[in-house]
Amino acid sequence: MEFHHLPVLLNECLDALAVRPGGTYLDCTLGGGGHSSEILKRLDGGRLFGIDRDAEAIAAASARLSGLNPGAEFVAVHGNFHDARALLAARGVDRLDGVLIDLGVSSHQLDERSRGFSYHDDAPLDMRMDASQPLSAREIVNEWSEDELTRVLRDYGEEKWARQIARVICDRRPIETTSQLVDVIDAAIPKKLRAKDGSHPARRTFQALRIAVNDELDPLAPALRDLVSLLVPGGRIAVIAFHSLEDRIVKNCFRDLADPCTCPKNLPVCVCGRKPVLRLLTRKPVTASDAELAENPRARSAMLRAGEKLEGGTWLDARGWDKVKGS
Ligand SMILES: C[S@@+](CC[C@H](N)C(=O)[O-])C[C@H]1O[C@@H](n2cnc3c(N)ncnc32)[C@H](O)[C@@H]1O
Repeated sequence: MEFHHLPVLLNECLDALAVRPGGTYLDCTLGGGGHSSEILKRLDGGRLFGIDRDAEAIAAASARLSGLNPGAEFVAVHGNFHDARALLAARGVDRLDGVLIDLGVSSHQLDERSRGFSYHDDAPLDMRMDASQPLSAREIVNEWSEDELTRVLRDYGEEKWARQIARVICDRRPIETTSQLVDVIDAAIPKKLRAKDGSHPARRTFQALRIAVNDELDPLAPALRDLVSLLVPGGRIAVIAFHSLEDRIVKNCFRDLADPCTCPKNLPVCVCGRKPVLRLLTRKPVTASDAELAENPRARSAMLRAGEKLEGGTWLDARGWDKVKGS
């Protein structure tokens, strides 16, 4: 199947990154290379690293980007961007001028039936972005306890019928395919009480399972902090989220980096002396224009936030204590 994915908020990302021709850039979620190809075209003497945990994305993007700009270097890296620091260090890189993260799955992954991401198709339960990892949706659905399933559906899908769905899943095991899972969800949610917004009853369960299979949320905030710490002063980070759980993590992380002051709010001046690490370039998330939505309806839930690294900021650890000054 040919790799198909339209990059979302492309111009908005390029504006936020303000690519420096000689700079070193990291696309944490290479996908089909849509964003990366435009970054690469803007480089002259610079370097672009593109990470993806999906070997199919690495192959497709490499074919598209190799040789696109002979005046710049492009390096594709198969791996998880949560490990970006180590992946880059292994290639002799410890400073970046810009970072892009376009979270979630690609259209290719959704449309490739055998990957099991879509509730519209019948396929084996899988949902792994990295086909070499052992944990798939099949294990979670068939082996995790009712309590664990309830937690996943509630915390990663904000599914109000989490307990009922988990119970019916446990009753109807084994469940091998996406269609069987859709039938189970259909049986668990009372027809009269379903959301009236026209959304598919399986949407939240599939989102939750995908997040659990790929461990998408818990490592995100530490990874964002690590990536910002790799930026040179003036370097930029742009992150696209696709649902409120992701966006909340990005928003809170950026806010903490932009405003590390721990003084009581009623003090007229700051006495803690902690300095911001990041300047917010977006107060509110940037969303797709009507023109983009007409061309690409999948952009409807995209939310872009961006920031610029400041010099001499104060890093705080999870407890709010000074960690590294000015890194
Ligand atoms: C929305 S697509 C990116 C599309 C890309 N920006 C483009 O224009 O073609 C997200 C991609 O990120 C990858 N991905 C998601 N989470 C990842 C992670 N933690 N580490 C590495 N790749 C990840 C997925 O496999 C998928 O290929």
